[in-house]
Amino acid sequence: MSASYRATYQASIDDPEAFWLAAAAAIDWITQPTRALDDSAAPLYRWYPDAELNTCFNALDRHVRDGRADQPALIYDSAMTGTTRSYSYAELLNHVARFAGALAAQGVGRGDRVIVYLPMIPEAAIAMLACARLGAVHSVVFGGFSAKELAARIVDAEPVLVVTATGGLEPGRTVEYLPIVADALASAGVELPVIVKRRKEIPVEHDWLDWDELEADAEPADPVPVAATDPLYILYTSGTTGKPKGVVRDNGGHAVAMAWSMQYIYDVGPGQVMWAASDVGWVVGHSYIVYAPLLVGATTVVYEGKPVGTPDAGAFWRVIQDHRVRVLFTAPTAIRAIRKADPDAAALARYDISSLQTLFVAGERLDPATFEWARQVLDRPVVDHWWQTETGWAICANPRGLEPLPIKPGSPSVPVPGYRLQVLAGDGSPVPAGTEGAIVLGLPLPPGTLTGLWRAGDRYLASYLSAYPGNYLTGDDGYLDDDGYLYVLGRSDDVINVAGHRLSSGAMEAAIAGHPAVAECAVIGIPDELKGDRPSGYVVLKEGADVTEAQLREELIIRVRHDIGAVAAFRDVTVVAALPKTRSGKILRKTMRQIVAGQDYPVPSTIEDPAVLDALADRLRPDRPRPPE
Ligand code: COA
Ligand code: AMP
Repeated sequence: MSASYRATYQASIDDPEAFWLAAAAAIDWITQPTRALDDSAAPLYRWYPDAELNTCFNALDRHVRDGRADQPALIYDSAMTGTTRSYSYAELLNHVARFAGALAAQGVGRGDRVIVYLPMIPEAAIAMLACARLGAVHSVVFGGFSAKELAARIVDAEPVLVVTATGGLEPGRTVEYLPIVADALASAGVELPVIVKRRKEIPVEHDWLDWDELEADAEPADPVPVAATDPLYILYTSGTTGKPKGVVRDNGGHAVAMAWSMQYIYDVGPGQVMWAASDVGWVVGHSYIVYAPLLVGATTVVYEGKPVGTPDAGAFWRVIQDHRVRVLFTAPTAIRAIRKADPDAAALARYDISSLQTLFVAGERLDPATFEWARQVLDRPVVDHWWQTETGWAICANPRGLEPLPIKPGSPSVPVPGYRLQVLAGDGSPVPAGTEGAIVLGLPLPPGTLTGLWRAGDRYLASYLSAYPGNYLTGDDGYLDDDGYLYVLGRSDDVINVAGHRLSSGAMEAAIAGHPAVAECAVIGIPDELKGDRPSGYVVLKEGADVTEAQLREELIIRVRHDIGAVAAFRDVTVVAALPKTRSGKILRKTMRQIVAGQDYPVPSTIEDPAVLDALADRLRPDRPRPPE
């Protein structure tokens, strides 16, 4: 396929069946698809309903078969331990097949769920691929999440086994995982086999199963054929409420979309190196650390470290140099952190980054100042692209492998082929260019996007498909310009994006509300120079509560850290007299955000008591301009 963006996009919209059947040629099928789209259960769609494959076979075995056995598949680079280790395709396959054998010996089979709670070590990718090899469904939980968050995922996914490690390494501290896993299993009320990768840096004793012993004794397992429509993984993400949503990804559509995106969006092919500086616990890690690079025979980098402080702001440039990285994918926060630590990019002069073609960023808004800085110091295209856990791959991007389009600062460019993007007004009518509205995607979504929420079909319909029938609601507001470029303005719901990590205000509020002095509370995301947004808590105290604001703040920080995890980076607490609400009792978080950000705010017609809003505005912004009458 060699065509312009416009023609390719149009072809994907006019005849998705032909488009995605042609794209399926990138995958080795056990049973070839004769059809692409199954719309028999619309608005729930399935891709490649009559096909069979094994995702792990496509990511590993076929590359060994086709002459890539000795090529690096995965390079582990740990800035935390000073270790680098490269795994060829043959070596990675050997580990994965053996670990799959070990899982099978523990009774894991097709369709069974396995929780993977691992830091950024090669075993994370090995465990995921081993599940895929058996047709089992992995659910990876980010290592920065607390026991409570882990327990919620265990309860929902009903796994047969947990894979973990003795711990993770954060700058200046060790995070021991085993007490967290033990706590989570106890509060989920289940007893499960646990396989532990013992890290030599964290040599903790335990009575659970030892990864290395199991792998050494295991018979390599063969790939198990699965239906293209079978689930490959569940990845939990934050919604408005405290209960995470289990996004389900299939095998066939996912493999096709991953391969398509590598060629046409990232322009990375066999033998080339992609580095997604994220974490396997997030969707970026699933798609672009593990699956997509391996599906196309490229080399992926698993980086354990930070953009700054491990040891300095040259860390990213070193990794690019050492591993000849062609494409780096990271979050704008990481670039802001590097810029803050090294504004003139002096560290860059120490490294040869000539291999780098493009910097891709996603996960949060790329502010024009950060864009401009990165473009100048790197002297390469800086490509913003916009997507979410649910879609699994980019909704809007600058398709570098298809046709590099002009880059506009502040915009993730244009809809990717397959996505019928529209911006709608509240009444469901499309808004003209330049006008803000809800960003929606016409159904069906392309392959690789969620097939639904794990055992929560009704919630999927209610949360995503009911607001604008025939469309998927992204939860982001934005507008299109005259050239069809999208500008994303932010979430329309109460999801908070902290350093590119998606967190639920509801979950933080639940943690805060458990404090004995708290009558009610609201958590909103407020602008933060480094992290994009940071959570800020507003608390109404109970009558007669005997606690100082400073003491309360300390206790609430500990609570949020305990219930959600350090990654929430919750630090701000303000005691207020009352929270502004609608007559039906809904807290006016958007209005609160506008007040804190110093923006004009309309007084909602549904407000219960306008005086509460006024008092809050006086408390939070004594210098505020008066709201329009
Ligand atoms: N396991 C355990 N704890 C973790 C963790 C993990 N995997 N990841 C983060 N944490 C902890 C940190 O140790 C820190 O704890 P502390 O409060 O005790 O210091 C807390 O969570 C906040 O961490 P972080 O978000 O990393 O903030 P920071 O201030 O330590 O570092 C940056 C700032 C910019 C370096 C960091 O946010 C960063 O690397 N951002 C990039 C984000 C990213 O890649 N997002 C991926 C989305 S695509
Ligand atoms: P997650 O599901 O964690 O990937 O978070 C998805 C959300 O992050 C989106 O709905 C957006 O709100 C935000 N987001 C992701 N990428 C971008 C981007 N390039 N620009 C602006 N916001 C983004």
